Amino acid sequence: MSLSKRGLQAPRALVDDLESSYGHLTGICRMCAGGVGYGPTPMALREAGLRAAEIGGGYGPVAGEPALLAALREKLFLHNGLDADSEGCSILVTAGANQAFLNVLLAVADGGDRVILFAPYYFSHYSACVLAGLQPVVLDIAEDGAAAEALQRYAERKGAIDESASGKVRAVVVCTPCNPTGLVLENAALWKIANICERHGWWLIVDEAYEHFDFEMQLTERAGNLFVESAERPSSLAGMAVSKGRPYLMNRRTIHIFSMSKSFGMAGYRVGYTVCSRSIRAHEGRDLFDILRRVNDTVATHASRQSQLLAVCVLHDIGCITILQSRRLRVLLYVRELWQWAISLARAGIVQLSPHWLNDASLEGTSERQLRIGAFYVFFRVILNRERSASCREARDTELCRFLAEHYRVLVAPGSIFGMEPDDCWLRVSVGACCSNDVGALREALHRLSNGITEYRHRRMSLKS
Ligand SMILES: Cc1ncc(COP(=O)(O)O)c(C=O)c1O
Repeated sequence: MSLSKRGLQAPRALVDDLESSYGHLTGICRMCAGGVGYGPTPMALREAGLRAAEIGGGYGPVAGEPALLAALREKLFLHNGLDADSEGCSILVTAGANQAFLNVLLAVADGGDRVILFAPYYFSHYSACVLAGLQPVVLDIAEDGAAAEALQRYAERKGAIDESASGKVRAVVVCTPCNPTGLVLENAALWKIANICERHGWWLIVDEAYEHFDFEMQLTERAGNLFVESAERPSSLAGMAVSKGRPYLMNRRTIHIFSMSKSFGMAGYRVGYTVCSRSIRAHEGRDLFDILRRVNDTVATHASRQSQLLAVCVLHDIGCITILQSRRLRVLLYVRELWQWAISLARAGIVQLSPHWLNDASLEGTSERQLRIGAFYVFFRVILNRERSASCREARDTELCRFLAEHYRVLVAPGSIFGMEPDDCWLRVSVGACCSNDVGALREALHRLSNGITEYRHRRMSLKS
C-alpha cells in the first residue's frame, strides 16, 4: 500500500494534536488555536434557518449563492473601497479561506512550480503548497529584513538562476495582518511587493483573513490593503480605475482571500471567498476566474448553501454587525493586554519579541500604540541556552508547549509550525477566543504563562550548569 509523498511531507496538524491532548483539561486556558469567542446572533441564525428551509437540500451555483455574492459586493464597496463590478472583479465563495487558498494554488501553478512565502508564515499556506505538489520557497524576514526588500533580493538572485531547472516561481503569498506575528503591512510595502510581482509575472496572493483586526484601521479608519488609494501609487500597475469620482485600485495580478471565520465569528460554518480581476486573459482567452470555478466545482462543488445563507443574514443584519464590531473591540482590549505583557517579558530579558517589530534597541519606550498591531496574536522567542537535554525527544518548542499545558494549564502554539527553528523556542499566544468576557481571566492566564516560562527556563538553564 502506498501513501503519497506530498501527504507524508505535509507538516503534522500540531495545533489539532495539542488541542485534542490538552483542550479538555479542567481549567485549561486555550490560547493555541486561532479562533474567536463569539458568533452570529440568535436573530441571524433564526433568519438563516428559515431561508435554508426554503431552499431545501439541492446543489447551488459553483461560484456562490447570488444573495451572498451581492452582499459581498456591498461589503467590498463599503469596507474595502472596491467597486467589484466596475473594476471587473469576480468573487468566488469557498468553504473557508483555507479552501480558497488551495483553490488558488491549483489554479495558478503546476506540480514542481515555486511559491514564495515569508516566514513566519501561516502554517496552512505551507501545507497547501506541499499538498499541491509545489515547492514553497521560504524567505525568512527575521533574517532578510522587511518582506518587500527580501523579495527584491530574491528576485535579483533568481534572475541569475535558470528557472526551468528547478521550477518557475508562480506566486508570492502575503498575509496581512499576519498570522502569527500580527504584522500589518503598510500600503507602501504592499505596493512594492505588487510591483515586483508585476515585473516578474508572478501572482500575488494576499490573505486578509484578519482584515477587521487591523487595529490602527479600526481606530483611525485608515484602511491598509491594496484596494485603497496609496500615496505611492506606482504607474506600472494595471487595473487602476476611477469610479464614481473616487479612485480605487485593483491590481490585476493580485488575488485577495477573505474569510468569514474571524471577523464574523463563523469559523465552524466554513465560508470564505476570493476576489480577483478578470482583466488578465492568462491563457487562450481564459481568465483566472474560469479556472477557479473549475477547481471549486471539483473540490467542493460549492460551500454549504446553509452557511452561505447565514453569511447573508449576518452581513445584512445591522444589529448583528454592531454586536460583532463591539466584540472585535473587546479583542483589541485583550490584544493590548497581551502586548503589554509580552513587552514586559522582553524588557526582563525572558523573551525576544518578533524581530519584525522590535529589536532590543527599539524596545525602550515602546508602547503597543506605536506598533502597527493586527490579528490577535503575539509571537516571541523564549530565550534559552541551546543545549539539548538527552531526555528531550521532542522539538524544544513542542516540549515547552506540553510543559505549559500540563503544569500551568495554558495551551499555546509552537513556533516551528510557522516555519521557525524548533529549538529556537518561538511561541504564538492567541487571545481571540480564550476569555470572551473577562479581562481578569486573561491576566490570570498570562500570569500562569509567565510563571511556566520562567520555570521552564530555570530547568533548562540549570541543565547546563
Ligand atoms: C491567515 C489565515 N488565513 C486563513 C485562515 C483560515 O480561515 P478559514 O477558517 O476561513 O478557512 C486562518 C485561520 O486561522 C488564518 O490564520
